[in-house]
This record gives sequence, C-alpha cells and structure tokens, in this order.
Amino acid sequence: MAVERTLSIIKPGAVRRNIIGQIISRFESSGLRIAAARMLRLDEEQAARFYEVHRERPFYPELIAYMTEGPILVMVLEGEDAIAKNRAIMGSTDPKKATPGTIRFDLAKNTTRNTVHGSDAPETAATEIAFFFETSDLCPRHG
Ligand code: CMP
Repeated sequence: MAVERTLSIIKPGAVRRNIIGQIISRFESSGLRIAAARMLRLDEEQAARFYEVHRERPFYPELIAYMTEGPILVMVLEGEDAIAKNRAIMGSTDPKKATPGTIRFDLAKNTTRNTVHGSDAPETAATEIAFFFETSDLCPRHG
C-alpha cells in the first residue's frame, strides 16, 4: 500500500463542542499522522468554492450555512492508504447509516452536521489539500 495524503476537516459543530482532541485521537490511533493543520473560518465565497460540486443539490444552502457558522480545523493526514482509511474512520455521510465506532456514528448530529469531512479519492485529495495549503506548509514525512 502506498503512503497517501488526504484532507480532513473538523467541522464547526465539532469545534464548538470542543471535541477536536478526541477526533484527532481516532486518526492517530489508526496510524494516520498530521502533516499540516490550521484553524480558520470559511467565508461564504470560500465555502461555495470548496463545495462547488454540490451547488445544485437540495442540501447545499444548509451545508454552506453550517460550514461558515464558526471555525474549522483543516488538516492533512498522511499514512498508508490514508484516503480510504480516513473514510473508514469517519463512517458514512449519514450518521444513521454509519458503522458503530466511527466518528460520525459516535459524534455526528445528522447528515449535514456530520462532524468531519474527508477527501474521497486521490484527485480530490490533491485539489482539496491545495485549496488550504501551500506545498511548503506540508511537513516532510515522519521517519
Ligand atoms: P462532506 O463529506 O463534507 O461532503 C458534502 C457534505 O454535504 C456532507 O459531508 C454533508 O455535510 C452535506 N450533506 C448534507 N446532506 C447530504 C446528502 N444527502 N448527501 C451528501 N452530503 C450531504
């Protein structure tokens, strides 16, 4: 398996609930490492650009309202098979369909307020990482 990088976002509700640490712990205990991390608050234009692919979906206005309501933590996670591993740790988008023990089953409120975002494929991981980070922001691989 290849070492990959993927973008993870801890969403505003989880930041407000002060559960960043327990979310990061789940990534770390699964062998993922943080290669970059930054707190920020998305404005509407940035959220619209990030979620452009969902613009026509019925949940889009609610999604943008949620993602701009407070600070988020954006991270680059690195490790073997990081993209799929991160998605497995997160669980299904809809917490009611997620497997027990996943972040979304254990911590998410509903499909919109679903605690975390993670890239879904290598191409989106590259685009989403570049959305938030310069190449020079990414720490070299842990030895
Ligand atoms: P995320 O992984 O950030 O990608 C798109 C987001 O849209 C998703 O998580 C949810 O927060 C939100 N969303 C709300 N409803 C839906 C839905 N029916 N299908 C997919 N995403 C949804």
